[in-house]
Amino acid sequence: MPLTKKSFGEDFIWGVSTAAYQIEGAHNLDGKGLSIWDVFVQKRNKIFKNHSGDIACDFYNQYTQDLYLMYSLNIRNYRFSIAWSRILPEGTGTINPLGIDFYNRLIDLSLELGITPWVTLYHWDLPHALEKKGGWLNRDVKEWFGNYVAVCVRSFGDRVKNWMVLNEPAVFTAAGYFFGVHAPGKKGIDYFLAAAHHATLAQAHGARIIKSLQKDSFVGTTFSCSHVEPFSAREKDIRAAQRADVLLNRLFIEPLLGKGYPTSEIKILKRIEKYIKQNDEQDLKFDMDFIGVQNYTREIIRHSLFVPYLQAKIVSAKDRKVSMTAMKWEVYPESMYHILKKFHAYENMPPLIITENGAAFPDQVENNRVDDPKRVQYLQAIIEQVYRAKQEGVQVNGYFAWTFLDNFEWAEGYEPRFGLVYVDFETQQRIIKSSGHWYADFLK
Ligand code: BGC
Repeated sequence: MPLTKKSFGEDFIWGVSTAAYQIEGAHNLDGKGLSIWDVFVQKRNKIFKNHSGDIACDFYNQYTQDLYLMYSLNIRNYRFSIAWSRILPEGTGTINPLGIDFYNRLIDLSLELGITPWVTLYHWDLPHALEKKGGWLNRDVKEWFGNYVAVCVRSFGDRVKNWMVLNEPAVFTAAGYFFGVHAPGKKGIDYFLAAAHHATLAQAHGARIIKSLQKDSFVGTTFSCSHVEPFSAREKDIRAAQRADVLLNRLFIEPLLGKGYPTSEIKILKRIEKYIKQNDEQDLKFDMDFIGVQNYTREIIRHSLFVPYLQAKIVSAKDRKVSMTAMKWEVYPESMYHILKKFHAYENMPPLIITENGAAFPDQVENNRVDDPKRVQYLQAIIEQVYRAKQEGVQVNGYFAWTFLDNFEWAEGYEPRFGLVYVDFETQQRIIKSSGHWYADFLK
């Protein structure tokens, strides 16, 4: 018998996720300050075809129609992020009332429609004014972030109960501070380690502030994670896969759980100690109410002498000739099952919620319809893997699809489409894809 929503129980949370910079547009409207992404997209050849999120889905202006559309698809939980520089244009100091007003309207209409808001406080768009002071490399970011979090909780906490502190610290620190392919475009191991430590500090600090201001809050944070397997049974590949696992899955969650940084497998990580001050190790720990798991694929890893620090590399889906998405990520739904089991196996792991999962495929509009059977298949297969894990005792309490609307996919611009709803970026027309209709039916 096919799985239904009922199979997961009444309390299981079903929803969709989005992020401010990827959909809002209105990048300089109504007093919003610039973020590091507003600045990064201006550099030549950083983003596919030099696209930018200046307009994106124009959600800032179209949120009313979009929320009604969400409602019509039976979606009753909505995870979105707040753009820090819309609220605090300089990152700290003066509050922008029009920014507060936008999120007030968004939250109020969601609630009116019976859609519960799930707010991510940081989805990668640091205020540019703070970047000028060093951004995530400056330890003061912990206090700047804490101050911003307090403003959000004081402004919206009478209506918002569910919070996620950070979105995928591993991705924004590695892509933004080691590889330089995301904002702010810095490259180097010391940048990465400093940003990683300050993000981990901010993660626990932000959560503590929410709890101190709002006793009945439900607080989590989100992690990118991929099931990792060695390319062969050779000892060298197995060890390489273990090192990749540290970076992809363990580095950010273990200090939060009170286990400290996992530095024993990768020598260079020890250098993070340079940035650790007295009491930090205590401060990195926080008992979250839930952990957000964000999984899209698995990675196959082999030993490689040529990769600095890690001596490990990903064997691409293309080279393995397996089926893949428009991101060139392997279609491998079992990854979700393995990751849920892995996270669940940690001692003292709070309940898990899948806060992102989805797939990009090259969608085509024909007769005003978008038929995307591959996405439907992918979602169905993932949901089966979630069920499998749940049946085996993993405490997994929710699933949010990435994403509601096709959007600005960071360095890949508008090319990969992840949405349940198609967006024509010329006209801003929305077309519900067959996956959107499928999800609506599933949620009915
Ligand atoms: C991010 C999203 C992104 C998605 C697909 C996640 O890493 O949180 O912002 O669009 O993956 O790449």
